[in-house]
Amino acid sequence: MQTTSTQPPILRAGMVGLGMIFDETYRPFFEQAAKDGLFSRRTGLVDVSLAAVATRTGSRAEKYRRAAPEPINRFGSFTGPTAAEEMIASGVDVVCVATPDDRHFGPARAALAAGKHVLIEKPSVLSLTELDELSRLARENGVLAKVVYHKLADPDHKKLRTHVADGVLKHVNNGYCSLLEPKSISTGQFAEWLTGRNPATYVAVHYLKLIDFSFGPHWRLSRITATGQRGLVGSAGGRTWDSVQLQVVYTHPDEREAAFDIHTSWVTPDNFPGYVEQEVQFRFDNGVWNAHQRKRGVELTVENRSPGELKYTPNYHYNGTFLEPWGERSQRGYGIEVIRRFFEEVAFVEHGGPASERTGRLHQMSGLAYNDVSADRNCVAIVQACEAILAAHADGHPGCVVRVNDPFGGLVLCKPGAAEPTILYQGRV
Ligand SMILES: NC(=O)c1ccc[n+]([C@@H]2O[C@H](COP(=O)([O-])OP(=O)(O)OC[C@H]3O[C@@H](n4cnc5c(N)ncnc54)[C@H](O)[C@@H]3O)[C@@H](O)[C@H]2O)c1
Repeated sequence: MQTTSTQPPILRAGMVGLGMIFDETYRPFFEQAAKDGLFSRRTGLVDVSLAAVATRTGSRAEKYRRAAPEPINRFGSFTGPTAAEEMIASGVDVVCVATPDDRHFGPARAALAAGKHVLIEKPSVLSLTELDELSRLARENGVLAKVVYHKLADPDHKKLRTHVADGVLKHVNNGYCSLLEPKSISTGQFAEWLTGRNPATYVAVHYLKLIDFSFGPHWRLSRITATGQRGLVGSAGGRTWDSVQLQVVYTHPDEREAAFDIHTSWVTPDNFPGYVEQEVQFRFDNGVWNAHQRKRGVELTVENRSPGELKYTPNYHYNGTFLEPWGERSQRGYGIEVIRRFFEEVAFVEHGGPASERTGRLHQMSGLAYNDVSADRNCVAIVQACEAILAAHADGHPGCVVRVNDPFGGLVLCKPGAAEPTILYQGRV
């Protein structure tokens, strides 16, 4: 067999934000990729390196550098207000954005404008105008702009969508989803950025995407309403929300409506058995799908270690560290798979065939609705509507409704008692 000493191509990644989600999903992916690279018959071996990181202070970067194995610990570190821009200019090919959700747009726009492929944590951005800008830059610069919705890679959710696609479950009518985070999240980890924010933007999007992707695309988004409660993480009349109840209505092609209620909170008692309590129910013409995070899996209690370090109801499908039966230590799960898949998509565009066919490969990958920002319109529209409804509520106008693609515009906020609607987004959603 003939051997060759040619170095494999490399994708140099830059990471903006080194918080919890970096540690749970990106870090294990980069460590695995540094060891084994990515391989498919179409691309051959492609190396991936964590070339640089951008954070506010650099302290988490140095902490990780001390813990990281060779050669990952050689990454460049950029800090301060222009860290992301400096990192992008330092010669990376791909930029991953995992900052708090109101700080995604700036680094994502700068990276796309510089012709880098981009992966953004959910929610991608907070307004349709921002989404339009990212989609345009990706198109003009011939790169991928994608968002992470890892729940779409959960085997249970994949099966739900498969049943819908195969016609086993017919015509969704309504459903509820609930995701409750413990108080320690809002009072600890997120305390720095959650003033003026709400838990729906941050976590309801998981279910918004699940609904939109699993039951769409042959329906249209029609209306959004929301309310919520305040007084625990902020003042009772302020702009920081403890919990939010969001309702989203779609219209099927046969004009029958479907409604979904999504409840989120970040003030659940820390000792509640489900660390992040998650439940969904979807009702169809001919069936019901019910999924409960705590009831599907393992229950574990270890004295002095649960529920802090070892959760009572761990989700090892999402992420787990294992001793494999063949003796190796591993970390795996759909949270990591979905990051790997994005890098495989970039590798396919850049190295999956002749340069003359790159445009075709790019279109193939940017046509994937599960993660492309161009297919995130309904989710971003709902997030933008929800934030506007909650802001109006805090300003003394509870009970607003946002109508989608009505005669006045794409996103139209209607306040009870007001003659004129407020146009949140003029173009079609
Ligand atoms: N897919 C999921 O299930 C999931 C889970 C958790 C978080 N997330 C998303 O990931 C993102 C980050 O969440 P997290 O839990 O890791 O938050 P975190 O608070 O743990 O970490 C945020 C990181 O961003 C850094 N940062 C903040 N502002 C910055 C700036 N202007 N420039 C550079 N770095 C900055 C912080 O220093 C920190 O390292 C959010 O968008 C969140 O919605 C997704």
